[in-house]
Amino acid sequence: MAGEDLLLDVRNMTKKFPLARTGIFEKIKYVNAVKNFSVSIKRKEIFGLVGESGCGKSTAARTIIRLYEPDEGKIIYDGTDISRFAEKELRPYRKKMQMVFQNPYSSLNPRHTVKEIVTQPIMFHKLAKNRSEAEEKAMYYLDKVGVLRSQVDRYPHQFSGGQRQRISIARALAVAPDFIIADEPVSALDVSIQAQILNLLLDLREEFSLSFMFIAHDLAVVRHVSDRVGIMYLGCLVEYGPYSRIFENPLHPYTKTLLSAVPVLGKRSMESVVLSGEVPSAPTEDFTGCVFAHRCIRHTEQCLKQTPVLKEIESEHFIACWSADK
Ligand SMILES: Nc1ncnc2c1ncn2[C@@H]1O[C@H](COP(=O)(O)OP(=O)(O)O)[C@@H](O)[C@H]1O
Ligand SMILES: [Mg+2]
Repeated sequence: MAGEDLLLDVRNMTKKFPLARTGIFEKIKYVNAVKNFSVSIKRKEIFGLVGESGCGKSTAARTIIRLYEPDEGKIIYDGTDISRFAEKELRPYRKKMQMVFQNPYSSLNPRHTVKEIVTQPIMFHKLAKNRSEAEEKAMYYLDKVGVLRSQVDRYPHQFSGGQRQRISIARALAVAPDFIIADEPVSALDVSIQAQILNLLLDLREEFSLSFMFIAHDLAVVRHVSDRVGIMYLGCLVEYGPYSRIFENPLHPYTKTLLSAVPVLGKRSMESVVLSGEVPSAPTEDFTGCVFAHRCIRHTEQCLKQTPVLKEIESEHFIACWSADK
């Protein structure tokens, strides 16, 4: 991919968490919450990241924006490898990369007015000459997301869930980022409100030339907004590619099961594929094989022993699956 066009390049990122020790002489074991995760995001692109709850989406997001340090791999942002940066070096990136969280209740300080909530990051990053200029800027961004001037002195609890999510978006926008990770921003909202928030994100992408990583546990949500889509399963990216190819020609057995659960208007739904077995948790670091093998109806001996890597099957369409060779 052309360097000019590329904003974020994540290569083989792994993030582990320690498991509780079972005995005093036991070696500490780790789970791979995110394993060998590689993704690139272009300028003005919306990349949709999808997977079941617990598959590592939030951990991937938090590691990319360096709330966590990766155990392995590189995070290259606008040409600079930030994966080992200390807090001081990360400071400018704390402005460039913003995050919008799933629950706008807990992410907005209940004791501050909406104006104060959006003014604070502008002051913190010294993006205004003085407080009144910062407040003016805050009001500008609140207006952009659809919060009226007459409402800016209210507190978060006086707004609906959808409006609170708009306020979270204004707060992220207020520091003029290039990249926003929206971690399940509509999962807690009514379906009718979801579409409004998704449309708002699309408008803001155009107006402010933003790139997004849009996280959801539901494929139906990302299909309307994403240029490209990645599917995660137990810490691993198992398939990714342009949105239309993923939806029209899903290749990984796991993506097929996800898609068979998405109703498509005016189209006969794909043959329903049902998963067998329980939802396992992220494997420990000594695990080898395909993470999906135990629930895959097509798995072979090889799938249980060797870890498949992402391979380009058609232009820009990648899957990690041994059956792709067959
Ligand atoms: N801070 C943490 N400490 C230990 N384990 C964690 C931590 N955060 C997440 N995990 C574990 O990592 C896995 C991935 O979690 P998460 O990234 O929150 O998934 P998702 O966002 O897809 O629901 C889960 O098994 C979860 O229990
Ligand atoms: Mg999450």
